[in-house]
Amino acid sequence: MRQPLVAGNWKMNGSVASVRELLAGIKAGVAGVPRCEVAVCPPFIYIPQASAELAGSPVFWGAQNLSTEAAGAFTGEIAASMLLDFGCTYVIVGHSERRTLYGEDDDVVAAKFAVARAAGLKPILCVGETLGEREQGITEQVIARQLDAVMAMQGAAVLADGVIAYEPVWAIGTGKTATPAQAQEVHAFIRGRVASQAPEVAAGLRILYGGSMKPGNAPELMAQPDIDGGLIGGASLVASEFLGICQAAHESV
Ligand code: 13P
Repeated sequence: MRQPLVAGNWKMNGSVASVRELLAGIKAGVAGVPRCEVAVCPPFIYIPQASAELAGSPVFWGAQNLSTEAAGAFTGEIAASMLLDFGCTYVIVGHSERRTLYGEDDDVVAAKFAVARAAGLKPILCVGETLGEREQGITEQVIARQLDAVMAMQGAAVLADGVIAYEPVWAIGTGKTATPAQAQEVHAFIRGRVASQAPEVAAGLRILYGGSMKPGNAPELMAQPDIDGGLIGGASLVASEFLGICQAAHESV
């Protein structure tokens, strides 16, 4: 049995005041969704605040990115050890916004995954195709390439107890959600590809869906056999919406 995980990717949003309010709202509701693991990924600068405000609560926190380097002259970067220093459990790697806006290729993403794993963080590996790639019928090729880059660097065992987020780029922040059937098809493909190298790892792998997930569409998505939770953007900035998605995950098991 895989415990569902719902993680909020706040992206570049928030202020000290709004973070305080959002975390208070999530903390107030999290006791109602005990079968769902809940995590938030604030911008780096609000991680100390999250760690202080979430200490003692069941809510985990993490980062949206990390450096491939351990320390040194890398202006503007944040190392895995720094995330651990502030109690991070998770770190998102390979989000499509990092890949497209900041030029992170499969090798960089695989290196970040490896560094996070080695440090004891739990990387959430994002994969997903663009609209053009879906229309060309190469969705599975794209996902396979993104996934294989990580497995090639370290072997499929590196995904043990891992988390992958399938985020079709065309569904991110657009209000367009993959249908439950479309998402399930890709989730099953991901699990199958990992299973071809490591069946036990694949069985325990949590595969989250991301892309315009809301309380309204979450129950149907969560009901799919290979969807184990969500990576939530916009709706994670409003406590009631985020908790509504957590509720759907809680009820799906
Ligand atoms: P939205 O939920 O805003 O579509 O964003 C999804 C996402 O990119 C999460 O990482």
